[in-house]
Amino acid sequence: MAKSSASFACQNCGAVSAKWAGKCESCNGWNTIVEEGAVPPIGAGAAKRIKGRKFALEDLKTQDTPPPRRMTGIAEFDRVTGGGLVAGSALLVGGDPGIGKSTLILQALGEYAKQGGHAVYISGEEAMAQVRMRAARMGLSDAPLMLGAATNVEDILATIEAGNPPGIIAIDSIQTLWTGALDAAPGTVAQLRTASFDLVRYAKASGAALLLVGHVTKDGQIAGPKVIEHLVDAVLYFEGERGHHFRVLRAVKNRFGATDEIGVFEMTGSGLAEVANPSALFLGDRTSAAPGTAVFAGLEGTRPLLCEIQALVSASAYGTPRRAVVGWDTGRLAMILAVLDARAGVGIGAADVYLNVAGGLKITEPAADLAAAAALASSLAGEPLPRDTVFFGEISLSGDIRPVPQAESRLKEAAKLGFSKAFVPAGTRATGVLHCTEIANVAELVSLIPTARQKLRAAE
Ligand code: TYD
Ligand code: MG
Repeated sequence: MAKSSASFACQNCGAVSAKWAGKCESCNGWNTIVEEGAVPPIGAGAAKRIKGRKFALEDLKTQDTPPPRRMTGIAEFDRVTGGGLVAGSALLVGGDPGIGKSTLILQALGEYAKQGGHAVYISGEEAMAQVRMRAARMGLSDAPLMLGAATNVEDILATIEAGNPPGIIAIDSIQTLWTGALDAAPGTVAQLRTASFDLVRYAKASGAALLLVGHVTKDGQIAGPKVIEHLVDAVLYFEGERGHHFRVLRAVKNRFGATDEIGVFEMTGSGLAEVANPSALFLGDRTSAAPGTAVFAGLEGTRPLLCEIQALVSASAYGTPRRAVVGWDTGRLAMILAVLDARAGVGIGAADVYLNVAGGLKITEPAADLAAAAALASSLAGEPLPRDTVFFGEISLSGDIRPVPQAESRLKEAAKLGFSKAFVPAGTRATGVLHCTEIANVAELVSLIPTARQKLRAAE
C-alpha cells in the first residue's frame, strides 16, 4: 500500500507539498509552508471499498418551502446577506485585522437579540470583560445576547447543544479555533478546516445560522480564510481604508442572494452607523471647483452610488513619470492614458499622473472610464468640469465610449442629489431626468473641455 507522503501545507492557499520550501509554488506566498499531520494519498479509500448506505434521489420539481430568513435589523447588513441570514447556513466575514469585524458582528447579534432572537457570541480573541466594554460603548449592554469566551470546538459545541438552539451563532475568530481531534497547532490549515467543518455541520443539522469571522493576513502567519471559502454558503468582506471612517461590507459569494451587493457603514465613537445614502457621503461637500475632478455615477450591486474621481497631471521631475492610483486599477489608468493619447491626441505620457477615488472607495466598474478620462483631461487643461454634471461610460481601445448597464438608475440617483447634466455613452436611452450629452468617442469628450480644445488647436 502507498505510504502517506505529503505533510507540508501552505497556510495561505492550502496547497500540500512533500517537502518544506520557503515559497509556496501555488500562491507565491513566502514563509507560508508549515508541517502538518500526514495526509493519506488520494485513492487510499478505493483499495478497501467500504460499503455505503443508500439514499433517495429526487427530481427538481420537488417543492420545498423557502428557508426562513433571520433579519438582524441592521438594514445594510441584511441587504448584503440577500435579505437576512438563512437558517442552517454558514457565512464567513473576512477582513483585515482592526477593520471592525468584531464590532459589526457584535452589533448585528445585539440587534437580533433585542428583537427577541436567541444569539450566541463566542469570542476567542477577547476576554468577556473586553467584549462587555465594547458592547457598553455601542449601547448594547441591555441586549439579551449570550456571551462566551472559548476556542475549543468540542467545548463550544457541547455548550451550544446543551442549551436552547440559537438562531445565530458567531465565532470570532476562526483563527483561534482548535479541535482536540488533531495534533496540529491552532491556526494551521488542518485545524481551521476541521474546526470550521464541525461547526458548519452543526449549523446544518440544527438550523442555526453560523457567522464565522476570519482575518486576512498578509504575512501568512495564520491560515487565511481562503481555505474555508468553499465550506461556507456566503463570503462577505469587510473593507475600508484605514485613514477613512467609511467601511464597506461586500458579498463576494452568496448561495442565497446576489453578489456585488454592498452595505456602507461609518465607524463612529459608538460603533458602526449605517449609511443609508452613501452617495451624499462619498461626494462630501464639494465646494471648490478645482480642475481634475469628475463625478462618476456608478453602481454597486443593485444600488447606484455617486463618487468623485480626482486626477492630477503634473510635470514630471524624473525621467520615469510617476503613476499613483488610490481606489482604482493601475492597468486601467495606463489603458485610458494610452487611448487618450492615440485617439484624442492628448499626450499625458511624460507627466506624473495621480488618480484618486474620494472617500476611500474602491471602484472596479469599467463604467468609470469616462469619468476618469474627463478628470484627466480637465486636470491637464487646467479647466474645471461643469459642477452639476455626472459621467459614466466604458472606454474601448478604439476610443469609442460604450454603453453601460442601468443608465436609468444612475441618472435618477444623480438627479436626486441635485445634478442636472450627464455625459453618457452614445446610444444611452435617456428618459429626460437629466440633460444628457451623448458622447461617441474620447475625441468628442476632449472637444467639450474648452481649454483642452484650444491647447490642442494651438499644437496643430
Ligand atoms: P474591531 O471590531 O475590533 O476590528 P476587527 O475585529 O476587524 O479586528 O474594530 C477595531 C477598531 O474599530 C478599533 O481600531 C477601534 C474602532 N472602533 C471605533 O472607532 N468605535 C467603536 O465604537 C468601536 C467598538 C471600535
Ligand atoms: Mg476582532
